[in-house]
Amino acid sequence: MASAALFFVFLALATMQSQTASSEKETHLKVYWHDVVSGPDPTSVPVAQAATTNTSKTAFGMVMVIDDPLSEGPGLNSSRLMGRAQGTYIAAGKDQLALLMNMNFVFTAGKYNGSSVAIMGRNAVFTKVREMAIIGGTGVFRWARGYAQARTHTLDLMTGDATVEYNIFIRH
Ligand SMILES: *[C@@H]1O[C@H](CO)[C@@H](O)[C@H](O)[C@H]1NC(C)=O
Ligand SMILES: *[C@@H]1O[C@H](CO)[C@@H](O)[C@H](O)[C@H]1NC(C)=O
Ligand SMILES: *[C@@H]1O[C@H](CO)[C@@H](O)[C@H](O)[C@H]1NC(C)=O
Repeated sequence: MASAALFFVFLALATMQSQTASSEKETHLKVYWHDVVSGPDPTSVPVAQAATTNTSKTAFGMVMVIDDPLSEGPGLNSSRLMGRAQGTYIAAGKDQLALLMNMNFVFTAGKYNGSSVAIMGRNAVFTKVREMAIIGGTGVFRWARGYAQARTHTLDLMTGDATVEYNIFIRH
């Protein structure tokens, strides 16, 4: 009797798992991330650094807080605002400029309005394609996992302002 009951428990669990797997979707999104460090209204601000950061060629130890606009196209002001990238990035490489990105993409328009994904990963900014992990999500992106690929669209070496194309691939 006990083994029959156990069998039905396993059967129920197996059914639940297959339902979860079959309802899983994969979504691909592309947004442009704008890191505005210059001007009177920056969206990316330094909040901490080490005593040695200024003399480090990779800004090792710098901590930035961001509330960067995410737009549909590459133009910051000409394109639809899809959301904000809120979080921090840290210069975590001593020999190569490599950021640790730790941010939520918070969608405020379109069909993902109200949902978010959490992105964490290494961003060696002078590498052509940087891959980061999607470690979770909310709203329609509950249970999310996946990856993001970042490609620099423009980088103004005078001001430090950057626009980066993010392609994100989410299973949720
Ligand atoms: C580093 O440089 C910034 C900007 O020039 C300056 O405000 C800050 O005092 C410097 N910090 C150190 C530890 O020298
Ligand atoms: C976008 O608009 C802001 C505020 O109106 C302005 O300061 C900024 O220079 C504009 N940026 C671009 C790339 O046109
Ligand atoms: C996004 O959702 C909020 C809350 O439901 C709503 O107030 C807002 O108008 C929506 N924004 C867009 C651009 O649809």
